[in-house]
Parts: sequence; C-alpha cells; structure tokens
Amino acid sequence: MSRVALVTGGTRGIGKAISLALKAAGYRVAANYFGNIEAAKKFTEETGIPAYRFDVSNFDECQAGVKAVAADLGPVEIVVNNAGITRDAPLHKMSYEQWEQVIHTNLTSCFNMARSVIDTMRDLGFGRIVNIGSLNGQAGQYGQVNYAAAKSGIHGFTKALAQEGAAKGITVNAIAPGYVETEMVMAVPPEVLKKIIAKIPAGRLGHAEDIARGVVFLVADDADFITGSTISINGGHHMY
Ligand code: CAA
Repeated sequence: MSRVALVTGGTRGIGKAISLALKAAGYRVAANYFGNIEAAKKFTEETGIPAYRFDVSNFDECQAGVKAVAADLGPVEIVVNNAGITRDAPLHKMSYEQWEQVIHTNLTSCFNMARSVIDTMRDLGFGRIVNIGSLNGQAGQYGQVNYAAAKSGIHGFTKALAQEGAAKGITVNAIAPGYVETEMVMAVPPEVLKKIIAKIPAGRLGHAEDIARGVVFLVADDADFITGSTISINGGHHMY
C-alpha cells in the first residue's frame, strides 16, 4: 500500500499543487483546509482527493484531524505543513491580532501537526515532514514582521526536529518559496509587486508546481539521507 500524505492548506494555491503532485507520484493524499469551504468542495470533486476541515492553529483540532485521516486512509507517514496566511502591515500599524494570527497559523501549526503525528512516525520508524517556509523568513520583508518571524521560526523548528528524527527514520526539511503566483501574492499592491518581480533574476513569479516538485523530491523513500535542509525555490531572488 502506498504511503499516506497529509497536506495542510492543501486545497488551494501551493498546497493544491502539492496535493496533486503527491497523488500523481502514487501517494494516498489527504488535504486539510479551513477557511474556504467552497474551494475545498470543488477541489475534492475535481481531484478525488478527500479534504478535511480543521484549524491548524488549534492543537486539539489537529489531533482530531490527524486521527480522522488515519481512520480513513491509514497512518499518516508524510506531513506537509503548508497552511499559511498573511496579515501585512508595517509594525507601527500592526495590531496584536495581526501578529498573533500569523504566528499561530503559520508557526504554531507546525508544532500542532508534527506533535500529532510524531508518535506514529517513531513507532513506524519512518516519517517525512516538509515545512513550507519562505524567502521572506530568510531575508525579511517590509510590512511582514509577523510573517517573517513565523517563517524564520519554521526554519529553526525544522533543523531542531530533524536532529530528533534522524535516528528514527524521520526526515524533516523545509522549502523556502519565493514569490509564487497565488492569491496571496496577487493581493500585494500591483506597484509593490512590480518592484518585487524586477528583483527576480528568472524574470517571473514562480508557479505552484515549482514548489510541489521540491516536496515530491523530499518525501521519497530514498531521500532518507536528506534532513534538516532548506531548498530555496525562488528563481534566484535570494541565494541563502
Ligand atoms: N521597502 C521600503 N519601503 C517601502 C516598501 C519596501 N518594500 N514598501 C513600502 N514602503 C514605503 C512606501 O514607499 C511608503 O513610503 P512613503 O510614506 O515615504 O511614501 C511607506 O513605506 C508606506 O507604504 P504604504 O503606503 O504602502 O503603507 P501601507 O501601510 O499602506 O502598506 C504594506 C504597507 C501593507 C506593507 C504594503 O507595502 C505591502 O503590501 N507590501 C508588500 C508586502 C509583501 O511583499 N508581502 C508579501 C506577501 S506574499 C508572501 O508573503 C508569500 C511569500 O512567502 C513570498
């Protein structure tokens, strides 16, 4: 039987491309979603991939969500922590809520999900965790102290957990996407986005599939010696 992969935020944007790429690679995929119920319904109709609604910023919901996927498909051996939001504003205009929402949805979610699967992975002697960081967690970004802190935190989380998992067959890696043509990036004011694209040596925004390709590479059984690493997929925007 093929392995079970759970992708958070897996019904839209980069997450959708990851879900589809993992399915195409032969995995049994479950996609998590929370906000956009309509999009999730459409996603399942189009792809046949089951979608599970829970809030990744809530620990109890993650525990229950992972349990539900395991009951339907089997033990979760691959987790892609992709779900994320932006609440951009310069610090002097940022509310505590904008800070807290981004930290909990983007970073605490990694703890919530990893903690919910780690016992099973340790028992099985196999696990793959891929955390989606960001160029902006590596380099910072005006208007994103919350997002940059959360994404930067993901990179530290990845390296620490990689050390814990290595002897148990569990690899933990990160991908740091640059600017990818998703709804999130398209919400950046056009004049700001134009300046950002001008800084990308490849001369274009990324495609969601560019990121998914990295995930498929990292979760493979024979990628077992790759752990604690970060793959930057950003068209040369930032070389870290
Ligand atoms: N660097 C330096 N200065 C900047 C700047 C930048 N990147 N962006 C804006 N400023 C300056 C403006 O020029 C302006 O200066 P003046 O007052 O002297 O004219 C000042 O900051 C205020 O700018 P705004 O009027 O735009 O302020 P605002 O409060 O309306 O909006 C903002 C600020 C929300 C941060 C807006 O600039 C913005 O949306 N920026 C884009 C942020 C961004 O890149 N987000 C990434 C989202 S996608 C993502 O996060 C995915 C990923 O992982 C890559």
